[in-house]
Amino acid sequence: MKVDLETYSGHPHTDAKASLTARLECGEVVYFSSCPFDLFSQDDLEFLVQQKSGGGFHKNISYDPNHGRTSGYLTFSRQQRRRLRGLLKGFSERATAWLAGLLPRYAQSWRLDRVHYRPEEEATRILRDTARDELLHVDAFPTRPSRGDRILRLFVNLNDCEPRTWVTSETFSFLLERFGRQAGLPHEVEATWPRRLRHGLLGLVQPHYRRRTIYDSFMLRFHHFLKNHQGFQDRGARKFHSFAPGSAWLVFSDGLAHGELRGQFALDHSYFIASETLELPELAPASLLEKACGLSVRHAA
Ligand SMILES: [Fe+2]
Repeated sequence: MKVDLETYSGHPHTDAKASLTARLECGEVVYFSSCPFDLFSQDDLEFLVQQKSGGGFHKNISYDPNHGRTSGYLTFSRQQRRRLRGLLKGFSERATAWLAGLLPRYAQSWRLDRVHYRPEEEATRILRDTARDELLHVDAFPTRPSRGDRILRLFVNLNDCEPRTWVTSETFSFLLERFGRQAGLPHEVEATWPRRLRHGLLGLVQPHYRRRTIYDSFMLRFHHFLKNHQGFQDRGARKFHSFAPGSAWLVFSDGLAHGELRGQFALDHSYFIASETLELPELAPASLLEKACGLSVRHAA
């Protein structure tokens, strides 16, 4: 398959001759100037841009391909519900088929995460601090623990006339060394019985809590720490990206600090990539964290 690759390097050590998987795992944002798989008819696109997110807990409209469920949108009719679900399902299937062809080593055992549709303008939406996408952060999903797998995300700018603007900064490796201790590295106390008891009780009412590992707890803590660190937000390295209308890009969003500054109407699909299928498993955030704290972090907190 011929792909039109353009790269925005987010990592100083990336070798242009390295494989695509190695480049992604090192922290590159790999850019496709036009989306390499079919998107939507004009009629479907017009329907999508009319949809509104439901607010409240939901930041975006989401589709879970594992259960076929769509959530986070304002509902007007059964027909609208059916059409929206069908479009997001179709996107998930086409994106996944294309990505499996591009990155077969990951597809051997990846877990499909959600599709998110972002109909709001990023520059003007109002969210609580830890949910604000424009602040530099590395990704960690509170309700879907990765348990040490990496988070690969595919984004598509559906907007037909406006670019989507991102900022990227340092890699997880750099940030862990710089801020890991301040954020609170995992230590033995996380495995003590009072914590296990608390964890077990919370797990009764919040199923995702039960599935969190020491790694997931740290990554959530680190995500919030970075968003709240004024010095990093003000003075951290910054590289700006303008993703053209109709373009697509891929990034391991747990491995590179990023923020979404501007843009409306984007789709993304996330995938959990197992350590065994990584080309450079030693660069995975879970491996780096284990090295930094001297503990195994991929088991329950
Ligand atoms: Fe993010």
